[in-house]
Amino acid sequence: MQKKVRKAVIPAAGLGTRFLPATKALAKEMLPIVDKPTIQFIVEEALKSGIEDILVVTGKSKRSIEDHFDSNFELEYNLEQKKKTELLKLVDETTAINLHFIRQSHPRGLGDAVLQAKAFVGNEPFVVMLGDDLMNINGEGDLLTKQLIEDFDRTHASTIAVMQVPHEEVSSYGVIAPIGEGDHGLYSVETFVEKPNPEDAPSDLAIIGRYLLTPEIFNILETQKPGAGNEIQLTDAIDTLNKTQRVFARKFEGNRYDVGDKYGYMKTSIEYGLKHPQVAGDLRRYIIQLGKELEGASPKSAKSDAE
Ligand code: G1P
Repeated sequence: MQKKVRKAVIPAAGLGTRFLPATKALAKEMLPIVDKPTIQFIVEEALKSGIEDILVVTGKSKRSIEDHFDSNFELEYNLEQKKKTELLKLVDETTAINLHFIRQSHPRGLGDAVLQAKAFVGNEPFVVMLGDDLMNINGEGDLLTKQLIEDFDRTHASTIAVMQVPHEEVSSYGVIAPIGEGDHGLYSVETFVEKPNPEDAPSDLAIIGRYLLTPEIFNILETQKPGAGNEIQLTDAIDTLNKTQRVFARKFEGNRYDVGDKYGYMKTSIEYGLKHPQVAGDLRRYIIQLGKELEGASPKSAKSDAE
């Protein structure tokens, strides 16, 4: 009988070098979007999709993630005394979650991080959720993880989320070679290629950090040789899996927020802020004012440049 998808794995063992010095002592996944750490968005997507148990694969200086999802008696007591019930509720929400942690002692790549979850996952289908990719965080559409689980319930096969990206950007992603036009956004796949050169890329459909995998992936990962960037790539293992059992790709049509680099992180903070009940109005007025000032400034500065 086909098993229910209950478990999620969140790889969070990267060094976060793009955000140094902020990430010297703080896990990259704890950087907030306005007031919520990026990893909390991921955890919430998992829970709302029906996931019951989550394993976070951590590296060095990831204590802050464990502390964030642990209870903080002093803070809770303080909020309770001051009758700050709304804040207390927010804090309580972070602790009522079945989270487990495991350390990846040497960062050898995403494939190796996922392999650390073998004992936790056992013989069940599971999802992998990458912390750099936030989806529909303003409640603007379906939950991608939920969609993958629904696909699995129908097909009983691994399914990888993909999205159309600009052609010149494909070398930052895993890319699929789809077979045919797809069936309502669900594609059969010929090959999965990690970080191809744009001229060799089989399509512009890029893997975007949500995977539903069958447990057979672990046997493949155990012997997977390093690939692109000399790292053990999850994409390579998925390509091998696709040779023995069907692996589908689900095209995502919603909003993806890439918080893995500085510009994407700032854009996400602004877009989320524009929907945030406490700051939306002020932020909107500020951006409009700033836009006017920048527009007013640009012809002048062009003139003074010419002078
Ligand atoms: C990873 C995966 C890649 C995927 C990407 C999505 O790459 O290896 O296949 O397209 O995440 O964000 P990374 O961004 O870790 O280099």
